[in-house]
Amino acid sequence: MAEQAILSYLETHEEIADSGNFAAECGIDHAEIVNAIKSLHGFLYVESQDIKKETWVLTDEGKRYAAEGSPEAQLFLAVPAEGSIAKDELQKKFDPAIFKIGCSQAGKNKWVEMGRQVSRKVVQVEDKVKDLLLKIQKGQVCSFITCSADKCLKTWKGYSVRKGPSYAPQREKFATDLTRENLQSGDWKKLKFKEYNFNAKGPPSECGHLHPLNKMKDCIKRIFRMMGFEEMPTNRYVESSFWNFDALFQPQQHPARDSHDTFFLKTPSTTMQLPEDYVERVKQVHESGGYGSRGYNYEWKREEANKNLLRTHTTAISSRMLYKLAQDTKQNGFTPKKYFSIDRVFRNEAVDRTHLAEFHQIEGLICDRGLTLGHLIGVLEDFFKRLGMSNLRFKPAYNPYTEPSMEIFSYHEGFGKWVEIGNSGMFRPEMLQPMGFPEDVRVIAWGLSLERPTMILYGIDNIRDLFGHRVDLDLIKKSPLCLIGIK
Ligand code: PHE
Repeated sequence: MAEQAILSYLETHEEIADSGNFAAECGIDHAEIVNAIKSLHGFLYVESQDIKKETWVLTDEGKRYAAEGSPEAQLFLAVPAEGSIAKDELQKKFDPAIFKIGCSQAGKNKWVEMGRQVSRKVVQVEDKVKDLLLKIQKGQVCSFITCSADKCLKTWKGYSVRKGPSYAPQREKFATDLTRENLQSGDWKKLKFKEYNFNAKGPPSECGHLHPLNKMKDCIKRIFRMMGFEEMPTNRYVESSFWNFDALFQPQQHPARDSHDTFFLKTPSTTMQLPEDYVERVKQVHESGGYGSRGYNYEWKREEANKNLLRTHTTAISSRMLYKLAQDTKQNGFTPKKYFSIDRVFRNEAVDRTHLAEFHQIEGLICDRGLTLGHLIGVLEDFFKRLGMSNLRFKPAYNPYTEPSMEIFSYHEGFGKWVEIGNSGMFRPEMLQPMGFPEDVRVIAWGLSLERPTMILYGIDNIRDLFGHRVDLDLIKKSPLCLIGIK
């Protein structure tokens, strides 16, 4: 509408001298007229020239005097026409600032006689200040006023407008689409199409962003699946000490079973159900051994095994799954299995830049007849190569549930040194035999944290920047796609 008003006006007039007056005449908001001028100018329909005007506007003080009169006039009117008024008395009628200005101006103007008593010196006065302020308020510019207060000057911006080189009384509409109707009717021959703007930016695509840990988890899952592993159901954070420790031949006095290292549950504090005959065999193997072992020679307590905790490793799930597999073996015969899991574990640790009280573990195991340490090394080399780590070294280690055990090291090119990347071993007969596996069934297994390789790949050096309540959501949005060396 604003656009058409401008084009129509220019059809019969040389120029729009002042966009402000024009807007007022058309009854259109000036801002709208300005937008239309800018747009028409862009397409050369019009030429425009800036006009700047400075106008006076009243400050709050000015507005008050325009309404109530100048302080001197107010003061004059408060003095009785006949006789006099005590100065103290007069003062009470005014705000202190108004009274002060009023006295000095009315005195200067010789309107009143100031003393302890105040009386009028003239019959009536003309409040020129008020008249002037009212003029300013009405927009009648008074060039003769000198005003030191900048804030009462306002700059107004507008335009004068004339026809431009591409002027037309109506703006031509460009087609933005070639439609089926255009083609059918033959319109397309006459249509003018809007030019492509190859510099225009497309709208930013809004989408969800995966957390680096989730991306890493997906990659590693894919590697396990390609290697023929099945995922174990890890959907339980709460475990009994039995599955987390006892089934793994971890003695009840082991320091890891202390509340300094493990979070125990208050409610429910104990487990309700354990497979009783298996519990009995686990008790036996801890107390007096068997299957060629001497055991630990201590008194195994059921109450200790019953205690609920937040699982300290995903090996708790591995022990459950292996027990199930052993039961299935008794019924249906043995089937070799390759299992993996990636999920959260909890440890009562002091939090620092490389430790959190909860983190994620990646765990893999293979259960088959006749497996050896050579198989374990071979599988680890294959697995880690797919993660992009081909240079491995193994160091003898100790876990209560594996023998032999090996820490896994990889040479990190960036750090220029060997870094520990995981832990592994062959599950002990003291763990597998009470479950009920045939004697020649072996299990090779390994575990590592998910955070460690993620931090290395994403160049994050503080674990708290990766996981937890203080993680910057922007990091998740901006983190690059890190592909690990899947082969
Ligand atoms: N459970 C071990 C850990 O928490 C990892 C591991 C898994 C070691 C399987 C050997 C075998 O570090």
